[in-house]
Amino acid sequence: ELYREFNNLTELERTVEEILNVKKVIVVKGDVSKDEYVFDSLGSATAKLIEGILQDGYKIGVTGGRTLSAIADEMSLNTKRKNLTVIPARGSLGRSVGYQSNSIASKLAQKLNAEYQILPVPDTASEEAMKMLMDNQEVKEAYEKLKNLDVLIFGVGRADVMTGRRGSSDELKSSILKSGAVAEAFGHYFNIKGEKVYHSQSIGITISEFLKIPNVIGVAGGDEKSEAIMSISTLRSDMVLVIDESAAKRIVNIR
Ligand code: F6P
Repeated sequence: ELYREFNNLTELERTVEEILNVKKVIVVKGDVSKDEYVFDSLGSATAKLIEGILQDGYKIGVTGGRTLSAIADEMSLNTKRKNLTVIPARGSLGRSVGYQSNSIASKLAQKLNAEYQILPVPDTASEEAMKMLMDNQEVKEAYEKLKNLDVLIFGVGRADVMTGRRGSSDELKSSILKSGAVAEAFGHYFNIKGEKVYHSQSIGITISEFLKIPNVIGVAGGDEKSEAIMSISTLRSDMVLVIDESAAKRIVNIR
């Protein structure tokens, strides 16, 4: 197949929407892997999108990562909405502070003049430890809210990168990858068809909860994430994706 050229980003957006069969794709110019500032573009495009969706009283879930932190950075301070709550979509203690969902949620909450509900649980812990944490009132409350999100904004990662970042053992890492995982989002690993092949042990949203959230927005950049984005896009046809030009072009051309 010939490498397809596009006259403008809108044409590219419509083409990716058709290929992925999702409601809306927003494409920002550039490549995050080459230029750091493209993260700002992803962040501000997503921030604008969120401002258009928010209603009074909304509960907003966020995940962690470099991409999500750019959204909190780029969010403007002039929201007119009241009684908003921002909740990290899963436990995240023990990672680089700036990119943890907890810190991203708190920054976003400040910008939106929203309440911030901490989810004070580690990213990974034994089943027993998790059970004990679930007895904690604060954890329970956060978890109840998580089950009733109005909006989820989530990052998308490559399975191989995320198993590394999560510090999984070599054994676990290779078993996750052998199961065909190409993508990771909100603590779940998926194969190219969007089938869940593994989930990290943490308190967070389940797939069936994810499917019920009225507004879900996935954000990712870099052409190395194209397969991961394709995988995640199969989860819901009514999701919105904010991606960069390099990921979009790779999706069009590896189809
Ligand atoms: O760890 C949180 C998370 O949102 C993952 O679910 C996702 O795979 C990853 O971060 C994306 O991180 P980044 O934006 O740094 O590539």
